[in-house]
Amino acid sequence: MGKPVSRILVINDEHLVLREFVKGLNAAARALDNPNGITFSGVATAKEALAAIESDGDIQAVLVDDTLYTLGKPNGHGASHQRRTLQVSALELVQRITRFRPELSVYILIAQEKEDDVVDALFTEAVDGYFYREERDYRGIYRILNAQIQERAKTPFYDQLKNYVWMAKDQWHTPGHSSGESLRGSPWVNDFYDFMGEHVFDADLSVSVPMLDSLMDPKGVIAEAQHMAAQAFGARRTFFATNGTSTANKVIFQTLLAPGEKLLLDRNCHKSVHHGVVLSGAHPVYLDSALNRKYGLYGPVPKKAVLDAIRRHPDAEALILTSCTYDGLRYDLKPIIEAAHARNIKVIIDEAWYGFARFHPEFRPTALEAGADYATQSTHKVLSAFSQASMIHVNDPDFREHLFRENFNMHTSTSPQYGLIASLDVARKQAVMEGYKLLSRTLALAKELRAQINSTGVFRSLELEDLLPEELRHDGIRLDPTKVTVDISGCGYTVDDLQKVLFERFNIQTEKSTFNTLTLLLTIGTTRSKVSRLYDALMRIAREKRAPRRLVRTPEIPAFTKLRYLPRDAFYCGGELMPLLDDKERVNKKLARRVCADQVVPYPPGIPVLVPGQAITRDIADYLASLLRSQKRMEIHGVVYEGYQPCVRVLKNAEQRSLRRID
Ligand SMILES: Cc1ncc(COP(=O)(O)O)c(C=O)c1O
Repeated sequence: MGKPVSRILVINDEHLVLREFVKGLNAAARALDNPNGITFSGVATAKEALAAIESDGDIQAVLVDDTLYTLGKPNGHGASHQRRTLQVSALELVQRITRFRPELSVYILIAQEKEDDVVDALFTEAVDGYFYREERDYRGIYRILNAQIQERAKTPFYDQLKNYVWMAKDQWHTPGHSSGESLRGSPWVNDFYDFMGEHVFDADLSVSVPMLDSLMDPKGVIAEAQHMAAQAFGARRTFFATNGTSTANKVIFQTLLAPGEKLLLDRNCHKSVHHGVVLSGAHPVYLDSALNRKYGLYGPVPKKAVLDAIRRHPDAEALILTSCTYDGLRYDLKPIIEAAHARNIKVIIDEAWYGFARFHPEFRPTALEAGADYATQSTHKVLSAFSQASMIHVNDPDFREHLFRENFNMHTSTSPQYGLIASLDVARKQAVMEGYKLLSRTLALAKELRAQINSTGVFRSLELEDLLPEELRHDGIRLDPTKVTVDISGCGYTVDDLQKVLFERFNIQTEKSTFNTLTLLLTIGTTRSKVSRLYDALMRIAREKRAPRRLVRTPEIPAFTKLRYLPRDAFYCGGELMPLLDDKERVNKKLARRVCADQVVPYPPGIPVLVPGQAITRDIADYLASLLRSQKRMEIHGVVYEGYQPCVRVLKNAEQRSLRRID
């Protein structure tokens, strides 16, 4: 575990002044307290500055002298005009730097006589402060830069949690284990205490401790931590959710949608979105995601379908899409969001798989940068937070905070796990301080892994062109390269058998699969050793030269039928259970013509075949029956067993007559 390293880049095109500054500032850093490991280095041109910022992930701040910078060398012809176009002002340089790495602190060195002009020009930019060049106050500059880095590296909630634990107060409050006292020394359960570690229990505190603030009414360290997260992720407001993005989506729906109001949503959205439709009483308008038949992957919704839906439903209140998808496909969001905003439709982007994107230009723009009103992120899935720890980012100019707060509190336990809140605070700090560096490493590892997989000659990592169905080719979709989907069809195993071999023989657990692909997730926690072990395993399997197996395609989910009633109305009907198969194991014909009361979701792919209120057809009944009869064990959420008989809940005829139809 090394000490922090913070490099500060001084950019000044006068060599002597630059040398003097770097020397003076490094002397100050050596002479004064330096907990962040600050050192200064200098460059003279904008090109060098941008190259250094790209290649050196330890750069935490830049000190830009207010002069014109050469961006590159003129290429010989049309010299004088060329020279001008190759120069950038300090303002342009600052813009380029902050566009590339928005988390960096930016300070400007100015000449006293130009102060007003410079400050005016940079007023709207993310500039953290100014210094007079002529003062040569190296110690003063160092102290301020050090304080700024210290400020960004603060974790207000986690710091306070640690302080409180070390204060060792006697507990006369919840939780009942009382810092683990109830377990420690118990002959029956002390192993749990030892296994989990003492701080898991010490830090498991509750709202009974006022100095730790309240997640439901934050005014202290939680408010401060959320504010810092908002700044880091580019939001107006950020809220910490301790029940995952599953809950985050529901909170937003209940805030934006009154019963009966329209929501445009990808049918392939996560099941929490469909549950949110029931809870909010929304009138859903489903958009079909594109299907890549070759690999059984359900991708984004074609841009044309989204834009058509926006045009056909200008009365919709909100639109929700998932970007990037589980397989790493990201929408070109800006035109979609602009079209929605033109009709006053709020845009929510489920970024469950994309919470790191702000911290490396390869992954940007983020949903918020593209103009989304809300983004929900499973910080736990892709950054260093504990499971269930997510963030809700808000940029909605019409944000109704009171309503949001009511809904947030409706879904939040009055006893949230404080370790989760601390982990969100720490995940934000890490993303800001070293996200760029770690993501650069992850990207490099993803590239290596892709090449290694292809070098086996049997497995093949799929690129954007492989993943995109025809109808998405011109939609500006991009691939997050840290999600690696591998075609396994040549390896001689079925996907289930391959996963078993990887797990049992090679101790490797993969993320998800289709009938002929495996998806591997690289995160900032992926190491080169892990990549090598996976490569080794795949290479060994490839060398076994097994004859390819016939892989059984998962049947395509049937097209959406008709929504007869609002999902909430249908869900809250008592309904009755109806068998899917008759006594002779044939499809129960009576199912067609009935209306479903539950959500029925085969997993994978996790797309609802039926939602509450939807008309059941013969095709759907046949599809569900074929899944039940197939050899492959598959979860089908929403199918209920009465004894051995698989059933679905449908509306009774009398209930149907009493409900208002919406079709
Ligand atoms: C697209 C999407 N949204 C939301 C969620 C739910 O996130 P969480 O596990 O944080 O509740 C998931 C989980 O897999 C997901 O894939």
